[in-house]
Amino acid sequence: MNKKVRIGIIGIGSFSRMHMKGVTEAYNAELVGLAEPDETRLHQHDEKFRVTDVPHYTDYNELLARDDVDAIIVATNDQAHREVTVAALKAGKPVLCEKPMALNTADCKAMIDASKESGAMLMIGQVARFNPAAQKIIEIVKSGKLGEIFYVESEYAHDYSKIPGSTGWRRDPDRHGIIGGGCHAVDLLRCIAGNPEEVFAYSSNKVLTDWPVYDCTVASIKFPNGVLGKMFCSIGAKRPQVDRTVVYGTKGTLYKDTFGTYLYMDKVSDEPMFADLNQQQIRVHIPNASKGHNTTAEVEEFCAAILEGRESSCPGVEGAITAYTCMAMVESSKTGKPVKLNYDFL
Ligand SMILES: NC(=O)c1ccc[n+]([C@@H]2O[C@H](COP(=O)([O-])OP(=O)(O)OC[C@H]3O[C@@H](n4cnc5c(N)ncnc54)[C@H](O)[C@@H]3O)[C@@H](O)[C@H]2O)c1
Repeated sequence: MNKKVRIGIIGIGSFSRMHMKGVTEAYNAELVGLAEPDETRLHQHDEKFRVTDVPHYTDYNELLARDDVDAIIVATNDQAHREVTVAALKAGKPVLCEKPMALNTADCKAMIDASKESGAMLMIGQVARFNPAAQKIIEIVKSGKLGEIFYVESEYAHDYSKIPGSTGWRRDPDRHGIIGGGCHAVDLLRCIAGNPEEVFAYSSNKVLTDWPVYDCTVASIKFPNGVLGKMFCSIGAKRPQVDRTVVYGTKGTLYKDTFGTYLYMDKVSDEPMFADLNQQQIRVHIPNASKGHNTTAEVEEFCAAILEGRESSCPGVEGAITAYTCMAMVESSKTGKPVKLNYDFL
């Protein structure tokens, strides 16, 4: 295989431009084909990414049939992830599939099984993991600096009335914002605190009242080792898209939002840089920028895993557990009862 992985993208909608950017910027990737049934959308980003000479297809099977395509990025609407991902894996192409992996566990399982059967690697694009600020948080938590983690919270707020999806697919009654957008917050909490044991959620629909899905959810989460968590998701909130995550440990607290990341700890030093803060605590700014859609790092990891013949840092099972946790929050909201997560479907 070449040192650069030759990538085809399937689903040339709005978010595909972030993958074109990612593939173009990644040191180990090259864009070699695009597939999308809608002729206009198929060409919509050509000029910006200078891909006029790259073959374009309205039938993705023609892209999959090419021997000089090493791997595929699936950027279709969520409902088509299973069909397209399974077809690509069956054609022997490793796949980076957009989040959320799928809208039900049967689809997640079918995608994982297709990867196992074909031997082609499956990665899920939980891009929040590639945010440098999030990576720093995970590193600090793992270092033990915060002591024992006892509470974590994260949120996702994004006004979906501005991004309904090219064919209105975000209004699908099975496509709750908790699954589609809340999965970013849930995935990050999972990276910090592990696989949830139980969730209990309340949801409402007061902003996007003509949408058949909840537009607001607050979920309590029980993580292993008695760690508690909370996730807030709004797909109607009138505010800029801001992601905020806070991790509370016995020795310190980490606070990250779109504008910065701060570490608060009991004061351990009399150095002047801490003097202007209060007497008991220090506050340290962590200079890792928040970069919400770091598809470049995501694509680089996908290609590195292919070239090194290893699993990626976000394999199918990871995407499935995150999606399943979000589905459990929908179920809890509907039934008004806590939902235990058993992971039997995996
Ligand atoms: N990682 C993130 O932060 C992030 C942000 C936005 C969207 N997304 C995800 O990216 C995906 C695409 O979202 P979008 O906003 O670009 O949607 P979109 O509606 O703009 O684009 C989806 C495209 O997929 C095409 N498509 C559907 N079925 C297809 C098939 N069988 N073969 C080829 N193309 C097909 C549609 O024609 C459409 O052009 C979704 O899964 C969405 O959840 C992720």
